[in-house]
Amino acid sequence: MRHLMSPLDFSTEELNQLFDLANDIEENPAKYAKACAGKKLATCFYEPSTRTRLSFEAAMLNLGGSVIGFSDAAASSAAKGESVSDTIRVISCFADICAMRHPKEGAPKVAADRSSIPVINAGDGGHQHPTQTLTDLLTIRSLKGRLDHFTIGLCGDLKFGRTVHSLINALSRYEGIRFIFISPRELTVPDYVTEMLGEKNIPYEEVIRLESIMPRLDMLYMTRVQKERFFNEEDYVRLKDFYILDKAKMELASPDMLVLHPLPRVNEISVEVDEDPRAAYFKQVQYGVYVRMALILTLLDIHVN
Ligand code: NCD
Repeated sequence: MRHLMSPLDFSTEELNQLFDLANDIEENPAKYAKACAGKKLATCFYEPSTRTRLSFEAAMLNLGGSVIGFSDAAASSAAKGESVSDTIRVISCFADICAMRHPKEGAPKVAADRSSIPVINAGDGGHQHPTQTLTDLLTIRSLKGRLDHFTIGLCGDLKFGRTVHSLINALSRYEGIRFIFISPRELTVPDYVTEMLGEKNIPYEEVIRLESIMPRLDMLYMTRVQKERFFNEEDYVRLKDFYILDKAKMELASPDMLVLHPLPRVNEISVEVDEDPRAAYFKQVQYGVYVRMALILTLLDIHVN
């Protein structure tokens, strides 16, 4: 039985197969409409989420399966003091597969170790968010045709943003990737990330200003300042509007630079950018459903001819 804790749990070859499956689902949705009939997905969300949870639920419903779960720790037995290990043993009796989000780093792994059904990490604290990364990679591969040889700028909260940490991890396995990290000094990528890049000889730069590097980017990954992970409100207020991507900045970029964002957006991308054909963040949401469908099928070992 397989779980998904980190995007590195799948080899690049396996990821390619997963993305081929996701693209086939995109083209032939009817073929997959009953693939998970009789199967249940449990969404165990100990932290608020609409996008990821509903994306998982939509994915399972599109496959003809059903969904159960909770969307708030206060509404689960965690409020009574139940451990994650016990919860997953109980959930294993109700469902065939589980997607778990938790504010504590490593909690989904603790669950996976005690589970008799596949567990998917749907985001653990500031650590990893593998299904968002699968979404990002599928979007890039579908819109650019490849996952290698490009310069990607990651901008915003690179310290607390788990989507950023997960994506850097995943992209570090492809040839010819150059990272440009754009953040205020307070929100730079953690040392363990730059150390990993150093060990693998992967080029990266750290800059503060977005304008100067815009023309060099093939892709710009914008992120929200992660309010919920700040220790004091003052720092958050000072940093939250540090970057605002607007039309004027988009004019500095190449005509085929993609703008990605895991969403939810706050102020970091001005709504006027939404009309720009290079804005790919709403397409990304759609790819998120296809890739979660492909993932559920793969972890349940269901094959559709
Ligand atoms: C991200 C997350 O939860 O880490 N959102 C998501 O899953 N689509 C990013 C964020 O909350 O800023």
